[in-house]
Amino acid sequence: MEEKQILCVGLVVLDVINVVDKYPEEDTDRRCLSQRWQRGGNASNSCTVLSLLGAPCAFMGSLAHDHVADFVLADFRRYAVDLRHAVYQASGSIPTSTVIINEASGSRTILHAYRNLPDVSAKDFEKVDLTRFKWIHIEGRNASEQVKMLQRIEQHNARQPPPQQIRVSVEIEKPREELFQLFGYGEVVFVSKDIAKHLGYKSAAEALRGLYSRVKKGATLVCAWAEEGASALGPDGQLLHSEAFPPPRVVDTLGAGDTFNASVIFSLSQGNSMQDALRFGCRVAGTKCGLQGFDGIV
Ligand code: ADP
Ligand code: FRU
Repeated sequence: MEEKQILCVGLVVLDVINVVDKYPEEDTDRRCLSQRWQRGGNASNSCTVLSLLGAPCAFMGSLAHDHVADFVLADFRRYAVDLRHAVYQASGSIPTSTVIINEASGSRTILHAYRNLPDVSAKDFEKVDLTRFKWIHIEGRNASEQVKMLQRIEQHNARQPPPQQIRVSVEIEKPREELFQLFGYGEVVFVSKDIAKHLGYKSAAEALRGLYSRVKKGATLVCAWAEEGASALGPDGQLLHSEAFPPPRVVDTLGAGDTFNASVIFSLSQGNSMQDALRFGCRVAGTKCGLQGFDGIV
């Protein structure tokens, strides 16, 4: 039997990345150090990382018949990401992001261009053969549809013996009220520093303690905090933490969070503890911050 895959549901975008030595001032005219196209989007980046880590993985998200799609499809294939569950939408185009990476600090500034591409729906998800997967990760977007997807997985799991059950994680990254209903699903919930700060928390530990009551019974809440590493809180009430692993020079932090999530999922799916998974996540994400793009993280 084929090894079961990890499915990531969410967004693929085209990142047009401009690397600069100094963040540009408004109304100036200057050269960037380099420019490249890179397949982006949280779920898509996490697939790249899973693939580099050696996990068979699949992407489920919206595609369009346009030339951006030609680029992202070719790149997904380069990383052997299974696309059978990607959905071609009848209207809209693949979103693009203009990214400015300051090579001096590694900071990334992202300007999103939304191009009316609908998200995949619960109806699309009904067609997915769940038995292919050992883990499903959902990037929070169209939350009310995604709740139906998560309920479908719960119903499927209720009919399976424990070893056949699909493990589930959810990412809540953008501070949008609609997404907060997703806290109640999945055994692992990744909540971002952005949301934590938006809600007034000053550290990962504070956010985890404040938000833990929102997750379902038995779940673990995880919060990454850039150069401060990442923390997690599970049902036993013990706060876990891993320091960050700074690379010799931080050159590109685009997708650090997606790298962290994928690496934590990978490690947990291999049967490791949450403490080990946090450390592994921080180690791989730290390595990524020292590289342009993702190649070379392992
Ligand atoms: P996002 O890309 O979502 O903003 P974070 O900034 O929270 O993600 O980073 C995710 C993880 O990446 C952190 O937990 C940390 O391990 C690693 N990381 C991010 N920035 C740095 C950095 N400057 N140095 C070392 N590790 C970093
Ligand atoms: C990084 C990223 C980029 C993309 C943006 C979408 O986490 O996925 O690749 O431009 O975020 O929100």
